[in-house]
Amino acid sequence: MEKLKIVGGTKLRGNVRISGAKNAAVAIIPAVLMVDGVCVIENVPHIKDVLVIADILSDLGAKVKWLQDDVLEIDATTVNNYIATDDKVRSMRASYYLLGALLGRFHMATVRLPGGCNFGERPIDQHIKSFEALRASVNIDYDIVIAKSEKRLKATHIYLDVVSVGATINAMLAACMAEGTTIIENVAKEPHVVDLANFLNTMGASVRGAGTDTIRIRGVEKLHGGTYSIIPDQIEAGTFMIAAAAAGGDVLVENIIPQHMDSLSAKLSESGAIVTEFEDSIRVESNGMLKGVNVKTRPYPGFPTDLQPQMVTLLSAARGKSMVTEGVWESRFQYIEELKRMGADIVIADNRAIIHGVDRLRGATVKATDLRAGACLAIAGIIAEGTTYILDLKHIDRGYQNFEEKLTSLGANVVRIDE
Ligand code: EPZ
Repeated sequence: MEKLKIVGGTKLRGNVRISGAKNAAVAIIPAVLMVDGVCVIENVPHIKDVLVIADILSDLGAKVKWLQDDVLEIDATTVNNYIATDDKVRSMRASYYLLGALLGRFHMATVRLPGGCNFGERPIDQHIKSFEALRASVNIDYDIVIAKSEKRLKATHIYLDVVSVGATINAMLAACMAEGTTIIENVAKEPHVVDLANFLNTMGASVRGAGTDTIRIRGVEKLHGGTYSIIPDQIEAGTFMIAAAAAGGDVLVENIIPQHMDSLSAKLSESGAIVTEFEDSIRVESNGMLKGVNVKTRPYPGFPTDLQPQMVTLLSAARGKSMVTEGVWESRFQYIEELKRMGADIVIADNRAIIHGVDRLRGATVKATDLRAGACLAIAGIIAEGTTYILDLKHIDRGYQNFEEKLTSLGANVVRIDE
């Protein structure tokens, strides 16, 4: 069993280069299923979720080849299979994008319901509502979703009842090759939604308005091949910014889009770190003596839920009281029990964490309960006194490329051990 061993108490210094965005990659790779021709995708993060989704495309009949460590070539022209029910499909949440992409291409899709991080109820009613509005019939047989239409999907007007990244992306995929112009309102504005729209447009689609509340998609008959470079990972960047602020030190987080970090930069500054923006990097300087702040997670451009656990870790060792409200998921505080084993003083009341900052966290053996929980425990280990062991690294490996190497290059004392 692999574990991370972290000896705490080091400051972080130096430069760290951020990889391509996981949540853009796991949408763009399935989208290639709709393309007639070869797609070369650059800045692809080499992480488990990406390897799995690329493997699923390969199983469906696409030709998938890594040209370099971060460049993926996919030719899905000859794919003639719209059934994805393998265990692999179940192992990751984002495999539900196969539904939108296969529906777009074949107006038929049979896909196993996804797994992924467990934050309580994870409904897909808004995805289904969108497919049905585009005139597909949708049936769920145990854990398999069967969506189909006799002919090409038909454009429509969709109003999403909740701002959902997944439903926005799935509706966008399915509408791309539908007949007519689809309007989707109350959509998610996350950077990866915009990145998928840019990818689709590069391949010949007509998607307008991504990044605003309303997206308009004029359906085209065909998408063509091309080359596209994925945006940097907003959440990986944020994780390193929080680590630098919490541990103290001076870190330049490179290859990012600073505007994507605005809500986090503001909170780190409010808590006492010095955050300086450059064209494609952000410098975080801190003496590690931060003060408590209140945070509420929200869809973009609000504070990202995917940085909530890392921010709670920072606040658990900041001066005074903080309140963190989870505004996206009904249940995303499972990791707090692990932080408490390290000495954090946190009380959960409904969807709020009330944090009383302690002088020092203490090393302990803890479990990564999900991807971002794993990242938060690594930050906790770096700022704690003593040695921390993190178990269940599979979660971290799903979404962070060379995580411990990057932390080590900044001076953290982190090693992966296999026992
Ligand atoms: C995406 O999940 C991300 N995953 C998550 O990141 C992220 O936490 C989340 O968006 C919010 O930003 C990927 O992009 C692969 P949602 P998604 O649909 O699309 C409710 C990470 O750590 N909802 O935006 O599944 C839902 O219950 C991962 O990288 C419905 O009610 O999230 C939630 O409360 C974890 N009905 C809210 O909307 C639906 O049909 C937002 O969920 C769909 C969602």
